[in-house]
Amino acid sequence: MHSYDLLSLHTDDQRQQKFKDAPDIFFNQKLNQWIVFKPELVIELLRDNRLLVPQIITSIEGLEARYRRKFPNLLFVARCTPLLIEGPVHRDIRRSLADMMTEGRARTTAALPDLMQRYVQPLGEKDQTEWMDTCLVPLVKDLFCHMCNCPVLVPFPKLVLSRIFDRFVSLAALDAIEEQVALLRQEIRKRSGTADEDLEGAKVALFILGRDSLLGALATSLLFILRQNLDRPFADIEFPDYVPETGVAIAERVAEQDVTVASVTIAAGQRVRLFFQPMSDASSTVGKQNLFGTGAHSCLGRPISLDVWRALCKTIHSFPQRLSSIACDYETNNIFVVPRHLRTEQSR
Ligand code: HEM
Repeated sequence: MHSYDLLSLHTDDQRQQKFKDAPDIFFNQKLNQWIVFKPELVIELLRDNRLLVPQIITSIEGLEARYRRKFPNLLFVARCTPLLIEGPVHRDIRRSLADMMTEGRARTTAALPDLMQRYVQPLGEKDQTEWMDTCLVPLVKDLFCHMCNCPVLVPFPKLVLSRIFDRFVSLAALDAIEEQVALLRQEIRKRSGTADEDLEGAKVALFILGRDSLLGALATSLLFILRQNLDRPFADIEFPDYVPETGVAIAERVAEQDVTVASVTIAAGQRVRLFFQPMSDASSTVGKQNLFGTGAHSCLGRPISLDVWRALCKTIHSFPQRLSSIACDYETNNIFVVPRHLRTEQSR
């Protein structure tokens, strides 16, 4: 049994070192699941079609029966979100989301210069910046409105909706998701005037899967680059073309049958927690594109996410100041790595 805090490796540099000494795959009694840090094995297991994404419809129905409650909106999400579905239904939903994203990308590409002008450029004139609330949160919100062609006006709180993917979620948190999904569906129906449940479901799924992932990846990637460039003019910083960090800490799978890998057997029904974070470590030899997953459930949001990252970097590169300090604290979450605050100070 290993003494790691297995929920996130991002927030503690020393902990980040520890995964290097871990076995390729090991069982953690406390979480009652297999843990994989090794990037090559994470990739192999993501591509293994005997490992399925957790399908949560029966769990939600179980909760409904146990607590004599109804969770219609949780069930709606469980039926329209590709990362919670397998088989032919998954394929169909994935195909229609991919079409929607291709169409949406034309709109987000056209909107990016204006979004940069509005949310990022003004920071080039400030001495102190809080990046989350003044820049990244509204930027990502507007981006989703353009992508889904739907002006959602409600400021959805970070990391509430995406806890649907968290198996350690409390009943209170499920209530909060139920309420927020109801609000999101209502907004989408009202603003895009659609009575088409499939279209509504597609927009809900994209928001739930993409918003916190993108927010976390942009913020942690920015933190990573800026930390290496303290006291340097922004104009001298070399920004990478690809996000160096991820906002998605882990993927989870359940074995459909016994799966033997690296001399252990993941028994049918057992869970595996696959960590993406070691892929972004300097010692990793796997391509950064794997931060977006691989296999049947790989990310559909990669092109749009990279468009925003590159536009963000280009705009920051044009700032006239130099960076003098950076500080970050994180939201508590088991799956997504999202800063609560990301603060910088800059001087001329
Ligand atoms: C830099 C930001 C992002 C990162 C790092 C990221 C990462 C990931 C990862 C690792 C997966 C696979 C999870 C798994 O296999 O369990 C995934 C799935 C997915 N992502 Fe992203 N994502 C990002 C942004 C987005 C955005 C902006 C959208 C959409 C607007 C999006 C849509 C999706 C969808 C639809 C899936 C599931 C596909 C399926 O199950 O077939 N992602 N993402």
